[in-house]
Amino acid sequence: MTKRISLTGIKPTGIPHIGNYLGAIKPALKLSETCEARYFIADYHALNSCKDPQEIRNMTLEIAAAWLASGLDPQQTLFYRQSDVPETFELLTILLAFTPKGLMNRAHAYKAMLQSNAKSGKDPDDGVNMGLYTYPVLMAADILLFDTDFVPVGNDQFQHVEMAQDIAQSFNYVYGCEGFKIPQPLAHEDSKTLVGLDGRKMSKSYNNTIPMFAPEKQLRKLIMSIVTNSQSVEEPKNPDTCSVFSLYKNFGTTAQLEALRQRYLAGGMGWGHAKQELFEVMNAHLSPLRERYNELMADPSVIHKALKEGGERARSLAAQKIVQLRKIIGIA
Ligand code: TRP
Repeated sequence: MTKRISLTGIKPTGIPHIGNYLGAIKPALKLSETCEARYFIADYHALNSCKDPQEIRNMTLEIAAAWLASGLDPQQTLFYRQSDVPETFELLTILLAFTPKGLMNRAHAYKAMLQSNAKSGKDPDDGVNMGLYTYPVLMAADILLFDTDFVPVGNDQFQHVEMAQDIAQSFNYVYGCEGFKIPQPLAHEDSKTLVGLDGRKMSKSYNNTIPMFAPEKQLRKLIMSIVTNSQSVEEPKNPDTCSVFSLYKNFGTTAQLEALRQRYLAGGMGWGHAKQELFEVMNAHLSPLRERYNELMADPSVIHKALKEGGERARSLAAQKIVQLRKIIGIA
């Protein structure tokens, strides 16, 4: 049986935090064991908001290193930069002709910008460039170019994948053929539940994150800063309402979890002890990744080579798809 194809785009945002790792990177790598995975760095998407060339370059390198250090095997998973597949932008042009303007008007990200402009009394389209406005069409091109079955994404991206479905269906209907496979969004299960240092969801915008490759000392310091309640050492504690335990669950073995749970319930364990336990399991898990990340960043030639080879393979697949599509539309 041929394997189903899963594809996702990775925004070049620099070094990911633990929430990104557990919520997106780990599940995507797991999926690559059973699916044919195609994961790419969405560098042209970043251009809409970032006009600093050095920053785009650095962020791309860092995010590529983070995925490779986390265990992405570029022999098994097609790993490439969007910009190395220019067929994407030809497909974008094709798809634009099948995208009603009204569909873009309904995109959440665009609507949020209109709203915030209205609030601050600005022109509704202030700060909205056409790249941002047509972002969902470029994303549809990323997806449809590779005959994707599944798109593992966070909930905020579901609408975009549904737009890709709409655009693909409209194309297939017009030509009466299956030019495009209809992709399905796939939710990462536990991406919502990870708590940050202050007890709210871990997110860059709350400034409550633990960076994936924080050096040991910084990792310990961050863990020690997790907000807990003011219960004394003697008091029994509830593991199920505790941020420290909730993070521990993602790194400890079942036996370790059970042992720590008993210590919570028994009393006699202070928050400092619980945090030390958390630091130990997290550090044991992350140390090898951190080491590998530092090695890759010290000599990025390995990263460049992986991306170049992935780009070439991706491009040859994309070129075949474009030939097929050009025939369908009569431009061949
Ligand atoms: N828009 C996605 C995000 O913000 C990134 C992305 C770009 C993507 N192209 C994609 C995700 C294609 C899945 C498929 O995270």
